Amino acid sequence: MNSQKPDIRFLFKPRGHAVIGASAAPSKIGNSIIRNMIHSGYEGKIFPINPKGGKVFDIPMLTSVDEISEECDLATIVVPAPYVFDAVKDCAKKNIKFLSIITSGFSEVGENKLEREIVTYANNHGMRILGPNIFGIYSAQARMNATFGPPNVTPGNVAIITQSGALGIAMIGKTQVENIGLSSIISIGNKSDIDEADLIEYLVEDEQTKVIFMYMEGVKDGVRLIEVLKKATRIKPVVVIKSGRSKRGAMAAASHTGSLAGADGVFAAIMNQCGVHRAIDIQEALDWCKFLSQNSHPVGENAIIITNGGGVGVLAADACEANNIHLFDDLKTLESAFKESVPSFGSVKNPIDITGGASMIDYEKCIVDAFNHKDIHSIICLGCETSVLTGETFKKTILDIHRTHGAKKPVVYSFVGGKDIEEGIKFLKSEGVPIYSDIGQAVSCLGKIYTDYRNRKSPMDGSSTPSDIANWVDIGKVKEIVKTAKADHRTFLLAHEAQAIMKAANVSIPKSVLATNLKDAISAANDMGYPVVLKIVSKDIIHKSDAGGLALDLQNEKEVIDAYEAVLHNSRRYKPDAHIKGVEVAEMLKPGVETIIGGRYDASFGPVIMFGQGGIYVEVMKDIAFRSITYDKHTIAGMLKDCRSYPLLLGVRGEAKKDIDGVIEVIIKVGLILSGCKDITDIEINPLLAYDEEDGVKAVDVRILLTK
Ligand code: COA
Repeated sequence: MNSQKPDIRFLFKPRGHAVIGASAAPSKIGNSIIRNMIHSGYEGKIFPINPKGGKVFDIPMLTSVDEISEECDLATIVVPAPYVFDAVKDCAKKNIKFLSIITSGFSEVGENKLEREIVTYANNHGMRILGPNIFGIYSAQARMNATFGPPNVTPGNVAIITQSGALGIAMIGKTQVENIGLSSIISIGNKSDIDEADLIEYLVEDEQTKVIFMYMEGVKDGVRLIEVLKKATRIKPVVVIKSGRSKRGAMAAASHTGSLAGADGVFAAIMNQCGVHRAIDIQEALDWCKFLSQNSHPVGENAIIITNGGGVGVLAADACEANNIHLFDDLKTLESAFKESVPSFGSVKNPIDITGGASMIDYEKCIVDAFNHKDIHSIICLGCETSVLTGETFKKTILDIHRTHGAKKPVVYSFVGGKDIEEGIKFLKSEGVPIYSDIGQAVSCLGKIYTDYRNRKSPMDGSSTPSDIANWVDIGKVKEIVKTAKADHRTFLLAHEAQAIMKAANVSIPKSVLATNLKDAISAANDMGYPVVLKIVSKDIIHKSDAGGLALDLQNEKEVIDAYEAVLHNSRRYKPDAHIKGVEVAEMLKPGVETIIGGRYDASFGPVIMFGQGGIYVEVMKDIAFRSITYDKHTIAGMLKDCRSYPLLLGVRGEAKKDIDGVIEVIIKVGLILSGCKDITDIEINPLLAYDEEDGVKAVDVRILLTK
């Protein structure tokens, strides 16, 4: 037994590489892999294994792993599924460190047990597994194409991690067409052992890799992935495409938080929180990867647009707003910077319009001025084909400018025109110029570099966590309340229990008393002072207003008497067999900004928190934001700002600012309750009323769900 994990560098630079299932038959995968390894110029020694012996591409085959007599760090296994475990055992005897298991027929078809046994055995013998059900691994630093994809892979700076095999193979070809060089491509298939997080940890340190691109279908250990991604994006850009929406999340629709989280929202929000760029399709992802691998960060926020056409300039300005790019607007500086290069009938207001009569010489003057100006930090250069701006001159000028000045600051080009322009774009792309036919595409690339630039400048998540949060919630009390409910075989807390949890967290709640008869309800209302609210209390009725079990704004004793009877009557009619515990009498609150705060366990990412516009229209408005659990005030403030309704908290039309800090503190407390008591799966406060700063916040309705 040797359960020590091997150094993952041996996966990317193995000294020797065995192929178990090597074959002389050109139609076999075990043949293609050897062919690709030879073709890519693998630097280590290849050990083809086949019990029949013979030769493959002139390399003598060994009849068993036992015959390997030199260092061998990696084995690609390409024998049918029933023989894989034996091959793994053979590898253990030879101290092979990594196994790339191409073979299908494991957990993806329900053979989970066999897959688990293989992984456990491998891990107990100091080996780690890539796959199974993969197309292999390409590593530029070892000149090793150990895949059965296309033989030609251009070495470069982009690393691809892919869960989809077919798409991964297709991406090898696509990157060739797009002139994108790869530092590695790793197929992770069933990710039974090695997963994205393991690979990212390595790729972040790998000098050759400048950008990491992941294609994901599902997340297994989201909590670790978040941790790794947060650190990685501070060092290198990470681009992701994710297919498939979380069905498990959508199923848990017992709370708003649950049903809203299901619609891919959690994944999108967490990627954003981690500083990962999420692309919608392969083309967009590859455009970003290429641009990010070729450009360094700007030194400031001032971007300018140079154009010969007003229309494209406006389109680009719109795209800048959508991509959060700041258009430099210091008119005086712009005027002095471009007075020489822009004609008097043009415009030096950003977009800089050199007008339709501009030749490539005019362009050159203007772009060079922009490259040389210290207050301009990035450039978007646009053009429409005209009689003076045509294919040949356009091609030559842009290439010259880019070669001479391109390294000074981030620049993107987008030109629109006919065949000549399109051919010019193709040529310039092949020369490494970041040029696109689509303006939106060009601007989005620049947007991503700005996102990275800001992400790296922003404080690390966790750095503004209050130091005393350990004292914010009486977790002992929370657990006691939950234990009582569980003893009662309930999977949710009753209103008064949920309120008791809020008290344990020192979250302000409306005054309330549980009345079991009319007399007590009247005296509670009289003690509390009018107006009051009556609410039905029943474990069988979760949505009180749907059941007619809610009466608001009761002004006097008479109204309380009428409402008491009505609430009971409606609830009994709504659910005749409901067990009714009583009626809650609560103070009627003055209006505030209605927010919703949620916390829940996501099947993939563990505890997540939610903030949004609250009230009864939550699921209609869908104005909500998620984060992976955090107690960091700055990160939570960012979640609040992600909502369209955020200005309501700042105060609109002369209203005072609301208690934003109070809202943030409740979100932190919801996170503390969720992480402190594992029997709680969902917490939802809706609404949490936010008042002016001096009046604080109030948790009006609190729902807490428990594990089954
Ligand atoms: N050790 C070494 N070689 C062995 C062996 C062993 N224990 N057992 C068999 N072999 C040899 C075979 O004799 C054969 O060589 P040959 O051509 O000289 O006869 C070679 O290994 C391959 O075995 P074979 O039985 O011919 O299998 P195959 O090549 O048809 O299929 C897989 C093997 C792994 C490709 C197939 O089972 C599979 O899983 N295919 C799907 C792969 C896939 O799509 N992966 C996911 C991609 S994203």
